Amino acid sequence: MLRAEGLHAGYGRMTVFRDVTLEVAPGEIVLVLGPNGAGKSTLLKALSGLLPPQRGTLSLGGEDVTGLGAEKLSRRGVRHVLEGHRVFPELTVQENLRLGQLARPRGRRLPDGEVVDMAARTFPILGDKRAQLARSLSGGQQQMLALVQAWAARPDYLLCDEPSLGLAQSLVPDILRFFRDRAGEGMGVLLVEQLVDQPLTIADRVVVLRQGRIVAEGPAADFTDRAALAELMLGQVSA
Ligand SMILES: Nc1ncnc2c1ncn2[C@@H]1O[C@H](COP(=O)(O)OP(=O)(O)OP(=O)(O)O)[C@@H](O)[C@H]1O
Ligand SMILES: [Mg+2]
Repeated sequence: MLRAEGLHAGYGRMTVFRDVTLEVAPGEIVLVLGPNGAGKSTLLKALSGLLPPQRGTLSLGGEDVTGLGAEKLSRRGVRHVLEGHRVFPELTVQENLRLGQLARPRGRRLPDGEVVDMAARTFPILGDKRAQLARSLSGGQQQMLALVQAWAARPDYLLCDEPSLGLAQSLVPDILRFFRDRAGEGMGVLLVEQLVDQPLTIADRVVVLRQGRIVAEGPAADFTDRAALAELMLGQVSA
């Protein structure tokens, strides 16, 4: 279980989100929704150790990991895929995947060929383009590469910031299937999105963040009323 309790974080003296308590269990997909500026990316950064908490605690498998920092948390199995499909543009697909492996303890790394095969099985286009430079890939293909690169480190928890942002609509189901499959293997997934419809179909639970506070949470099935969800996200008063 990755768990935040009463967590506050922000930048310098500014607090962006307050009093967030949430958990992600192994095999579970938690979807964080919220409008621009709600603090979603900041929350992910705090959960992966990129930002130190100002208050509250973070625990992993029952152990207190508050303030541990991103590198140590990553070694303990928490991986954060930042917004904007960050890959190394001047390296090939294959080389990018090899870098993903470096986060694994020595001796537990997969042979390079196996990682590429894993990528090709998951997103066949990556197999076809294994020898090409990452910068020659489309935005959607780069997102796929960033996801497989993170997965190659075999994390227990994957935190992903707006993976469908800016992608061709036709690629979104492939990206979402990736998360569903990983959760099926036991990985805990925390997904931040602004799109609502498609991510809701794979989520187990939803957390709605507005102005740095959780304003609603529950099973995904409770969020099927789109008008009510929009109201929650935007804070409009119903007529
Ligand atoms: N590096 C930073 N330094 C200072 N303030 C920041 C920084 N990053 C974000 N902020 C501020 O924190 C607040 C929350 O931003 P955040 O990026 O977490 O929101 P978000 O919900 O991810 O928004 P979006 O949907 O646009 O991605 C905003 O007011 C933003 O201006
Ligand atoms: Mg964001």
